[in-house]
Amino acid sequence: TDQSKIRNFSIIAHIDHGKSTLSDRLIELCGAVEQREMESQLLDNMDLERERGITIKARAVKLSYKALDGETYELNLIDTPGHVDFNYEVSRSLAACEGAVLVVDAAQGIEAQTLANTYLAMEHDLEIRPVVNKIDLPAADPARVKQEIEDVIGLEAQDAPEISAKMGINIQAVLEDVVHHVPAPDGDPKAPLKALIFDSQYDAYRGVIVFFRVMEGTVKTGMPIRMMASGAQYEVIECGHLLPLGMEPCKELIAGEVGYLTASIKNVKDTRVGDTITGVERPAGEALPGYRPAQAMVYCGIYTEDGSKFPDLRDALEKLQLNDASLSFEPESSAALGFGFRCGFLGMLHMEIIQERLEREFDLDLITTLPSVIYQITKTDGTVVMVDNPHNYPDVGAIATAEEPYAKVSIIAPPDYVGNIMPLCQDRRGEFKDMQYLDTNLVEIHYSMPLGEIIYDFFDTLKARTKGYASLDYELSEYRPSELVKVDLLLNGDQVDALSFIAHREKAYPRARRLCEKLKDNIPRQLFEVPIQAAIGGKVIARETIKAMRKDVLAKCYGGDITRKKKLLEKQKEGKKKMRSLGSVQIPTEAFMAVLKLD
Ligand code: GTP
Repeated sequence: TDQSKIRNFSIIAHIDHGKSTLSDRLIELCGAVEQREMESQLLDNMDLERERGITIKARAVKLSYKALDGETYELNLIDTPGHVDFNYEVSRSLAACEGAVLVVDAAQGIEAQTLANTYLAMEHDLEIRPVVNKIDLPAADPARVKQEIEDVIGLEAQDAPEISAKMGINIQAVLEDVVHHVPAPDGDPKAPLKALIFDSQYDAYRGVIVFFRVMEGTVKTGMPIRMMASGAQYEVIECGHLLPLGMEPCKELIAGEVGYLTASIKNVKDTRVGDTITGVERPAGEALPGYRPAQAMVYCGIYTEDGSKFPDLRDALEKLQLNDASLSFEPESSAALGFGFRCGFLGMLHMEIIQERLEREFDLDLITTLPSVIYQITKTDGTVVMVDNPHNYPDVGAIATAEEPYAKVSIIAPPDYVGNIMPLCQDRRGEFKDMQYLDTNLVEIHYSMPLGEIIYDFFDTLKARTKGYASLDYELSEYRPSELVKVDLLLNGDQVDALSFIAHREKAYPRARRLCEKLKDNIPRQLFEVPIQAAIGGKVIARETIKAMRKDVLAKCYGGDITRKKKLLEKQKEGKKKMRSLGSVQIPTEAFMAVLKLD
C-alpha cells in the first residue's frame, strides 16, 4: 500500500442534510457496489437505524477511486453517528481521519449540529471540505449558503461542490475535492503499533470485530496485541479491509490504513472506543490521547409487563450489551413492578433506542420508570453518594448538600424566535450566558442548564416553539448545589415506588400535580374511593380523588348507540387483561404507561 494514495475522511452534517444519501452515492460511484445489490443505506445497516433514519454505530468502508489524474486512491470513509448522545464516538471517528466533508443543505443552511460537528472536526485539525447538497430543491439557494459558510464558519466555500445526493448530480466533484485537498496520512509503518479503536461490533461466530485506524506501526495477522486502557491481551486472528459488501482479509495493515481485526474477543467492554491497540512484543510508550470511558447520563428502571419474563429481559440486555459498551444495567426491584433492571444510557435517544430494540427484537412488553439523571449527595457524615434512583435518595435529615448535573447548552435559531426560546430556557432553570449573531439570520444562544431539565422533553418543546427551526447541542459541564426534593406518590395511602421522582423544589409542585391529574385521568374507578397524593417527606403537596365506581359501566351511555356500548365493554375487557396491583388499587398497564409518559 502506498501511503500517499490513502485518504481518510468522514462526512459531517446536521441531521437530515443528506449525509447517508451522499455516502451511498460515493460508494456507488466508486463502483464498489452494483446498484441492484445496494441496499438504500448501506452504512446504516441496522433495520432500526434505517427506520428512524439515524446512524447509531460508526462504521467505515474502503473505496477504490480512479481519479481524473489517472491515479487510483484508497478512500476510507468513516461514518459518524448523528446525535448528541453519541458525540464521543463521533470524536473518535474524527480522530481517525485527516479530512471531513461538511454537507450543508442548500435550503436550510447552517444549523446547530453543522456548527457543533465543524468545531469537533477543527479540534482534530481536519481539513474541512464544504459541500452544498440538495440543489434540486426549489428552495435551494447555494450562493446564500456558501456565503453563510464563509461568514459563520470562516471556511473558503466559493468553490465548494454544489450537488444533489438524491438525484446523483455532481457527485464526482466531491471525490475529486477529497483526493486533492484532504492530506494523505503520515505515520511510520516501522514504529511500535498504535491503532485507534473507533468502533466495535459483536459477532456470534467471530467474537468482537474491532474497527480501527492504524496511526503508527503495522498490524499483522498472528500478532499478539494489547488494549492499552483495558489491558486485555489477544492474538490477531484476522485483519483486513472493510469493503461495502463485507470484510476482505489481508496480511497486514500499515500506518494510515483503516480496517478491522478479530481476535476471539468475547466482550465489547474489552475493546472500548477510543482505546489504543499496541503490540505486546514492542509496545508503544504511551497511548493515543483522548480516551475516556463511556459515561451514562440518564437512568431509568426497565421492567417486563409480565413479571415471569424477568430472565428474558436479562438475556436481552446482556445480548444488547455485547454490542453496546455504553449500556449499563443492574438488577433492582420495585414493590409495584416486581423485578427489573436499573439501566444507564448516554442520553434520551440512546434510551429510546434500547427500549425499542428490547420490545421489537426480543418481543418484550416493557414498563419503564421515569428517567432520572445522577444526583450527587453529600451526607451529614461526610460520605458522598451518587443517586440515580429516587428509591436510594437519602432521608432529608441525612443530607448535607445535594447537587445536580448542569450542561452547557447551545441553541442556534433565526433571531425571530429568540423571544420564544429565552422564556423556555428560563422556565427550565437555565442561566443565560451569552448570545451572538452568527450572521443576520442566525443567532447562537448559550445557557447553562440542569441536565434534568433537558431530559424532560426540552428538545421537542424547543422545536415546537420555533417551528422546527432551532437546533440544540449540549454537553455535561459540572455539578452544582441545588434545592432538591424527593416526591413520593401515594395511592390510597400506599407509596408507589415506581412513581417517585427527584426534582428541584420549584419544579416538584407542578410536576407532582400533573402526575396526580394524569393518574386520576387514567386509573379506572374502583369499588371504593381512591385518594391520590403526592408528598415530600410525609407532607402532602398535591391531591386528587378517584370517585368510587358506579355499579353499571353502561349506565352512562343511555340511549341506543350500540357500538359505543360495545367499545366500552371491550375496553373493560382489555383493561381486565393486564391489571397491575399498586397496593390495594388495580390499574391497567396502559394507564400506568400513560402516567409515566413525559409531557
Ligand atoms: P441522519 O442519518 O439522520 O444524520 O441524516 P443524514 O444527514 O444522513 O440524511 P439522509 O441522507 O438520511 O437524508 C435525509 C433526507 O434528505 C432523506 O429523506 C433524503 O432522501 C433527503 N435528501 C438527501 N439528499 C438530498 C438531495 O440532494 N435532494 C433532496 N431533495 N433530498 C435529499
